[in-house]
Amino acid sequence: NNPPWPAYRGYHEYSFAHATMGHRLPTILGKAIDDVVRTLNEQSDVDRIVDLVESIARMQDLMEDLTGNTKLRPIVDDGEGDIPLWNKEIAQFFQGKDFMNAPWLFAEAYKYRRLHECFSVSKYWKDYDVFFRQKCDTFSRSSKAVFELSMRFSKPWKQVESLNATQKQEAIRLMFHELTQVCLWGNSTDLSLLINMTEEDIKKLQSTGGDHLAATEKNILGNDIPRLWETVKRISQKPDGRIDFILDNAGFELYCDCVYADWLIQSGIAKQIRFHGKRFAWFVSDVTRKDWDWLLNTMVYGQLFPEASDAQMDSLRAMGERWKQYEREGKWVYEQHPFWCTGYTFWDLATEAPDVFLHLSRSDLVLFKGDLNHRKLTYDCEAPPATPFDMAIGPMASLPGAPPVCSLRTIKSDVVVGIPEEVADRLNRDEDGWKISGKYAVVLLSDGRPG
Ligand code: F6P
Ligand code: MG
Repeated sequence: NNPPWPAYRGYHEYSFAHATMGHRLPTILGKAIDDVVRTLNEQSDVDRIVDLVESIARMQDLMEDLTGNTKLRPIVDDGEGDIPLWNKEIAQFFQGKDFMNAPWLFAEAYKYRRLHECFSVSKYWKDYDVFFRQKCDTFSRSSKAVFELSMRFSKPWKQVESLNATQKQEAIRLMFHELTQVCLWGNSTDLSLLINMTEEDIKKLQSTGGDHLAATEKNILGNDIPRLWETVKRISQKPDGRIDFILDNAGFELYCDCVYADWLIQSGIAKQIRFHGKRFAWFVSDVTRKDWDWLLNTMVYGQLFPEASDAQMDSLRAMGERWKQYEREGKWVYEQHPFWCTGYTFWDLATEAPDVFLHLSRSDLVLFKGDLNHRKLTYDCEAPPATPFDMAIGPMASLPGAPPVCSLRTIKSDVVVGIPEEVADRLNRDEDGWKISGKYAVVLLSDGRPG
């Protein structure tokens, strides 16, 4: 069940794996320790204090293991649903491996699972999220783009009545084209890469206006949006069309996903949207249930934006209320299967989590957001850039029952498929770091295989 190309590993000095394992992950862990110390200093109850001090000690052990490149050990059984999957994968494939010579994707996921273990074995801090403050803070600094979208999309979406049928269809297509890109570029605000972002940096990354989108469309190196539109048109003909989002990051990206999902419901294209998030803090900024609730509730009740006008706050509240109503009506469903926080790639999804595969095979379209999901779809290996997306995702395209799968990803790591070879050659020659800047993107579609 493996692709023919080698997976990236930490000791590959030419790849981003090396910088991540050797430098980025210790930095992220160091900042996580700072966050817990801050929480510790706000406590008064001695039992909770002692319990948290023990979590900090476990984080320091993890730091030593990571920087000392020790061998990977099993995860302590903390009663979570993902433990059997973790320890099976370690026992079968990675016994004796260390952080640097295990596949990068696995070693990096393992680090986030070990970080969760620091808290999951505690008494009072089982669900503590070391990245929560950061996630909320970045959203609160995204006001310009947040209100740009809410002021435009809070009013219920309606077709202009005076248009004829062809014009209506074209209006829907244009909106789809724009919002697909809003959803795509929402992925470029990623806390794990942009640790020292300024207000200005965030603004630049988050421009959502039409002109800006048109200018950045040329940076979508493999662009299946026209084919995606054909798929979406078919879904709109169905009485019960369902679209799934395999979510990536919380805050602004999730907000963009929801704006898109809102329109997919209002336009009648989908009757139900299912969102799949993580069970615990994952790759810094990924969405957990708490992040989901936080976003919807802060939109309705929060006071995050003291500078905003009444009209802006009203628009945010109206949109948040509509989204909460979708949840109550079952039009939007939030889920969190343990598989999404394991070290397995999606080449193993059908064998290691058959329930998830069956569940997704009933969807009409599964949108995978972001870089990590893309790495997992493609096995994070050194496939040639012109490899067709269908081939790169293996079983997720070829197994009977594979649903249509679309990856909406700004490029932030080495694996790149589905783009013309000459484009990759040119960028390799002319633009250092093009694979990690988040400046380029792909929107790649596999039609799947009906079961
Ligand atoms: O460490 C690299 C990485 O795993 C890449 O996937 C990306 O740089 C980042 O972390 C996560 O990006 P995203 O949030 O888009 O999945
Ligand atoms: Mg992420």
